[in-house]
Amino acid sequence: MKLNRAATNFLLDALALIVLVGVLWTRIVAFWIVPLPADGVAPVRLWGLNHRGWDLVNFWATMGFAVVVLVHLILHWTWISQFVHQRIKRMTRSKGVLDSGTQTVYGVGFMIAVFVVAGGLLAVAAVAAKPVP
Ligand code: HEM
Repeated sequence: MKLNRAATNFLLDALALIVLVGVLWTRIVAFWIVPLPADGVAPVRLWGLNHRGWDLVNFWATMGFAVVVLVHLILHWTWISQFVHQRIKRMTRSKGVLDSGTQTVYGVGFMIAVFVVAGGLLAVAAVAAKPVP
């Protein structure tokens, strides 16, 4: 079966929804149903996994969701760049044309900026975290 663009989008959107529900579900399980062990409360397990196990499942589901959303954004990149371009053109009253090469350059530049900011904030967190005395 050959997938056209609409079918690809539909399958990816359905996957995004399923993974999002998985992220929320495992977060709630790790928070309420299998909570962090506390003094005076018996530790709980669900289907063989303790709190740490569900926390890990939630972590990897979240990473998976990030990848699916990234692919979703890449598939809609033309829509996003045309939208931003139209708005800028309207504000500046310019008549420029945005070809697909320029769109790709802006897209790659935008992704690099997002990763630099996110990576920079992670580096700040890693430096700021201190062992508890
Ligand atoms: C659970 C997560 C998500 C689901 C289920 C979802 C679903 C959809 C659907 C059904 C469409 C229209 C059909 C298509 O062209 O694919 C769409 C379009 C779009 N989505 Fe998402 N989306 C999700 C997350 C996101 C996120 C997080 C962003 C941005 C950060 C985003 C940005 C867009 C854009 C820019 C479009 C194109 C807009 C348009 O064509 O009018 N989506 N999405």
